[in-house]
Amino acid sequence: MKLLDVLQSTTAYFEKRGIESARLNAEHLLAHSLGQKRIELYLEFERELSETELAPVRELVRRRGQGEPLQHLLGTVEFCGRTFLIDKRALIPRPETEQLVEFVEIEKPAARILDVGTGSGVIAISLAARFPAAQVNAVDVSEDALDLARENAARIEAGARVQFAISDLLEAVDGRFDLIVANLPYVATTERTNLSREVLHDPEIALFAGDDGESLIRRLIADAPAHLEPGGTLALEIGVGQEGSLSALLQEKNYHGIVTKKDYQGVTRFVFAKHR
Ligand SMILES: C[S@@+](CC[C@H](N)C(=O)[O-])C[C@H]1O[C@@H](n2cnc3c(N)ncnc32)[C@H](O)[C@@H]1O
Repeated sequence: MKLLDVLQSTTAYFEKRGIESARLNAEHLLAHSLGQKRIELYLEFERELSETELAPVRELVRRRGQGEPLQHLLGTVEFCGRTFLIDKRALIPRPETEQLVEFVEIEKPAARILDVGTGSGVIAISLAARFPAAQVNAVDVSEDALDLARENAARIEAGARVQFAISDLLEAVDGRFDLIVANLPYVATTERTNLSREVLHDPEIALFAGDDGESLIRRLIADAPAHLEPGGTLALEIGVGQEGSLSALLQEKNYHGIVTKKDYQGVTRFVFAKHR
């Protein structure tokens, strides 16, 4: 079978299975399986693929068709211009979280940064790369996630400046920070039945936070002031429709300069606030 025919029949199969960006998924899986760059496929459309080449492609296509996320099949994800390892130990980083990293500003040159719920470590490592003078700490309650984050830190130069530790939110955290950033779980448990097949491959502990999805973020808002330097910033990614109640809580807990920002889809997805 010619490469182009494989690409076209895979795309048609993915479309039938309701997979978004069917052609792009097909290209990624074929390139990954052949050990090539996606762009290189375009130079080889007429090449006949051998049975040895086709067998692993078929297996990946079958798994993708059953709803396994593309990133799990590739074993990697792109985040803020770097390639990170990803697997079922941690949430697949989402494109909107790249915006959280972009929106973050630090005023002090040698700032101390803490990433809470670091997962695969993408936020902490990307911030370490962006702010070379900063000291970056990252915590998660999941040992599995921390193992993956440490593997990522070992592969990416800036990762050497990130200190990882296990902690239930800020319980095991010492000291104060100029910035506390967090993309914590914010899905309501009642939303479980509305989630896509792909999302259900993310660890439960990375998704759900009580009946309204706000329980963990609320705890962090209450606990963060004891770990923020005067004028320090709390930067949060939040769920759809949570900005009103969380902004009100921030006000109640004496934060100021509360600002919300939208993601690429126009959804209010981030809240920034300062303390004292
Ligand atoms: C939505 S994922 C985000 C992962 C990563 N920061 C990202 O943006 O891709 C939330 C993370 O919070 C962690 N988490 C859940 N409950 C926690 C808790 N009580 N304390 C610390 N981390 C927690 C999960 O293990 C998961 O890695």
